[in-house]
Amino acid sequence: MKKRVLVTHQLPGERIRELSAHCEMTIWMDPGLLTAQGLREELPGCHGLVCLLTDRVDADLIAAMPDLEFVSSMSVGVDHVDVPALTARGIPLGHTPGVLVNTTADTAFALMLAAARRVVEADHFIRMGNWTKENAWAPDFFTGKDVSGATLGIVGLGEIGQAVARRASGFGMKVLAWNRSVREVPGVESVSLEALLQRSDFVSVHLALSDSTRGLMDARRIAMMKPGAVLVNTARGGIVDESALAQALASGRLAAAALDVFESEPVAMDNPLLALPNVVVAPHIGSATTQTRASMADIAIDNAIAALTGEPMPHCVNPEVYSD
Ligand code: DGY
Repeated sequence: MKKRVLVTHQLPGERIRELSAHCEMTIWMDPGLLTAQGLREELPGCHGLVCLLTDRVDADLIAAMPDLEFVSSMSVGVDHVDVPALTARGIPLGHTPGVLVNTTADTAFALMLAAARRVVEADHFIRMGNWTKENAWAPDFFTGKDVSGATLGIVGLGEIGQAVARRASGFGMKVLAWNRSVREVPGVESVSLEALLQRSDFVSVHLALSDSTRGLMDARRIAMMKPGAVLVNTARGGIVDESALAQALASGRLAAAALDVFESEPVAMDNPLLALPNVVVAPHIGSATTQTRASMADIAIDNAIAALTGEPMPHCVNPEVYSD
């Protein structure tokens, strides 16, 4: 009898057909995302789950699914999944590292440049009809902050952090980095987190969200940042204390922020960050290119097929489930 697999969204690419050859597959086809309640209703009796980062796979859901044999997430981050609960049951969790590195680094750089040079503010200025003869080019008109030659602090020097460092060197930036376990990367000076915050004109966050990184950029650390610095976050919203950040931006202590991720997504319209002109925002689009999303889907399907055919997943978050 074929195993049953739930796929919580239509996925890009052609490989989804290959998956259907290995299982009895249900794809959630309704518009929008599958709700938590919908997932709870659709998953019983399934042996496998192919999900997105918007699907919360918590301990209660896992406990309620006795047939579950694998989970494959089309994401590199897995903070939406209770990994210890899966591991305790011997259930492998797949994810999609590697393929989104350059795309996400491009996004971080794009947001950093946009915040530094006030690109979004300038766009609004024209569209609102404010660019008039009386309000036009002047020595201090839309002045921003130089990126070239500035100091960039990278918080988390994994693959994405390193890809951001490569881009920064092309801009003649001095690159500092902090990583929990020190990593030596040519052209990057490893420093303490405190030194990084005190010395950097731009700080870009590239950490996974975990118990040890949640709230890492709290009010105390934000206060350590150089006056006039810019914070960029394309990692996870939960790493940054949003109200402390909003206060630092509103007071002018920080020049700007560029955020692709929020503590709660979709971000609430009354989030104070949205009211600040010096904040550039994006709706979690770090990996959003057609090619990268197709590659992520391919890896998610490869992980699922491996699980269905009794092989170890090629990209497994908890490979200890395969040891006896
Ligand atoms: C991931 O895969 O974790 C990214 O946040 C997607 O952009």
